[in-house]
Amino acid sequence: MAATRIRQPIERNIAMELVRVTEAAALSAARYMGMGNKELVDQAAVDAMRFTLGSVPMDGTVVIGEGEKDEAPMLYIGERIGDGSAPEVDIAVDPIDGTTLLSKGLPGAIAAVALSPRGTMIVPRETAYMNKIAVGREARDAVDLDASVEDNLKNIAEALGRRVQEVTVVVLDRPRHDQLLADIREAGARVKLITDGDVAAGIQAALPESGVDVLMGIGGTPEGVLTAAAIRCIGGAIQGKAWPRNDAEREAAEAAGLDLDRVYNTEDLVGGEDVFFSATGASSGELLNGVKVLGGGAETYSLVMRSRSGTIRWIDSQHDFTRLDKIRFEG
Ligand code: FBP
Repeated sequence: MAATRIRQPIERNIAMELVRVTEAAALSAARYMGMGNKELVDQAAVDAMRFTLGSVPMDGTVVIGEGEKDEAPMLYIGERIGDGSAPEVDIAVDPIDGTTLLSKGLPGAIAAVALSPRGTMIVPRETAYMNKIAVGREARDAVDLDASVEDNLKNIAEALGRRVQEVTVVVLDRPRHDQLLADIREAGARVKLITDGDVAAGIQAALPESGVDVLMGIGGTPEGVLTAAAIRCIGGAIQGKAWPRNDAEREAAEAAGLDLDRVYNTEDLVGGEDVFFSATGASSGELLNGVKVLGGGAETYSLVMRSRSGTIRWIDSQHDFTRLDKIRFEG
């Protein structure tokens, strides 16, 4: 009889180690807040995230990163990170979600990272964008990406025990959402437009009493998978469907075997029982306060979660730059 490989649960709460990773990314990137240079913001976050992730004991493979190896020297897809010891994990990073926001000093930029057991994160990367709907626990069975906007909103309202007029939908402010916005307004729900950052918005939709009940619309595919990891921890639901931007992308995706009609559920995007997530605010937003720069130091605010236990931690940290520099330069 063939031996069955039993996956051991990950006993360690790696999310507690990931918070140092997202804190480092947010702290580094926030130094360039408002300077109008999104590449600088991103690079600072990538460098800090790569450095701190490298010190986490694990055998990690980047499945969501900065792109292919040729384009990205660090945190590229397929890069192995960690000291090679157990556990074997997939790593999804978004060193800064909302680089434009942070580069302009606008609210809502976060640093985010998620881990799950090796082979459990599925990224339909043939299309850069995904149509998404995300909700919290109470409405998790009420959504269907293939149903109309009106039906979704009615069902969500019913699941929440509210009128549609009392449901708030967050949507990225993009011309591609003109019809979606018309449909939401026609159905009578409230709309909150954001200019960037649909990971934080999706998390807000999943968290109870956040003032946002649903995320709807087309955003980045990697961001959709990261949001799924967070939602695995919180307990809501996200559904996503590949959204080709043009015929060329559609044809290439089909040729690569992607089923453009498939609706990916939360567990399709991030499977496995052990999912870990950490996010730190870079610029202050509704989900998280941003890095607060003080003389000689800073404060950070993070959200740290683990799917198996369902524990959600809000962590405030004080950082002393003088002492940190001493460690960095003197060991
Ligand atoms: P970046 O930080 O990489 O710029 O992403 C910000 C973001 O707003 C994401 O949150 C979102 O999923 C995506 O961009 C939307 O893409 P686009 O700006 O092309 O509509």
